[in-house]
Amino acid sequence: AFNLRGRSYLKIADFSQREMLYLLDLARDLKRAKYSRSETKALRDKNICLIFEKTSTRTRCAFEVAAHDQGAHITYLDPSGSQIGHKESMKDTARVLGRMFDAIEFRGSGQDMVEQLSEYAGVPVYNGLTDDWHPTQMLADMLTMVENSDKPRSQIAYAFCGDARNNMGNSLLMLGAMMGMDVRMVAPNENQNHDDVVEMAKARAAETGARITITDNVEEGVKDVDFVHTDVWVSMGEPADVWESRIRLLTPYQVNMDLMKKTGNPNVKFMHCLPAFHNTETKVGKDIHEKFGITEMEVTEDVFESPMNIAFEQAENRMHTIKAILVATLGA
Ligand code: CP
Ligand code: NVA
Repeated sequence: AFNLRGRSYLKIADFSQREMLYLLDLARDLKRAKYSRSETKALRDKNICLIFEKTSTRTRCAFEVAAHDQGAHITYLDPSGSQIGHKESMKDTARVLGRMFDAIEFRGSGQDMVEQLSEYAGVPVYNGLTDDWHPTQMLADMLTMVENSDKPRSQIAYAFCGDARNNMGNSLLMLGAMMGMDVRMVAPNENQNHDDVVEMAKARAAETGARITITDNVEEGVKDVDFVHTDVWVSMGEPADVWESRIRLLTPYQVNMDLMKKTGNPNVKFMHCLPAFHNTETKVGKDIHEKFGITEMEVTEDVFESPMNIAFEQAENRMHTIKAILVATLGA
């Protein structure tokens, strides 16, 4: 059996393929247990600290509900509710929190910050999203794809269309490489993954048999895929002046009905880590509409509101998979 006790999860490559498969199994067990009201509590009286320097709905709620279901307590620190960064360094913060908590989740910009936290805290640290990686999201995406496919894992093909060099693009490329899948990064040259990430993914693919395609050609990229993923064109923390060029560069990669048809797969599914910009109901949506005259961005309303969309299952799976990480790394 696997023993992941005491382990941190700072980037997607921290767990091996076998460890990922173990966590997915555990997530499925925990999901079934919750649905059948037979869940037992493996984290009684554990204390978990959640640090969010960037905002969140899913990740925060997933950690909180998972912790409560398993009997653990949480402390939430919002972007302004602590000394971190303003008055106290991450190294000092880590040495304080490590003496009070059994584990710490961190969401912020710098990958170096979550790494420093882990180095000095002495307890498991989970990356709840940085500019570079979104590792906890990957277990949810993997679980959702496996649940929605009849194929063996290695036969599943998926494309990511859009800003491939953001945290989601990097993570989905590595996920496919690690899990031996057929992964397509579909983006203009300016938004393709950086070379170091591509090299890492290719090295992993050589071991797992994964097929990696990096292309600016939509037809080639999405042909025969089972899942089309996308993400926002401008991520949290990016400067406002990138909107214009992103819209110009990424509009040909918008996930619309035409792109979904190009897959040639009548059963193709749409995935998105969320939040998504697909109408003008939000404040950001209204602002962008006013400035650039568009009403949809990375995904169109018709695709988003169609039965192709499994992003809400994906969102639910954040909770079951984060619970699996907590139970595996902290459980009795
Ligand atoms: N997908 C995701 O991480 O969502 P939140 O930003 O709401 O946590
Ligand atoms: N790329 C997005 C993901 C949000 C969950 C961001 O970093 O804002």
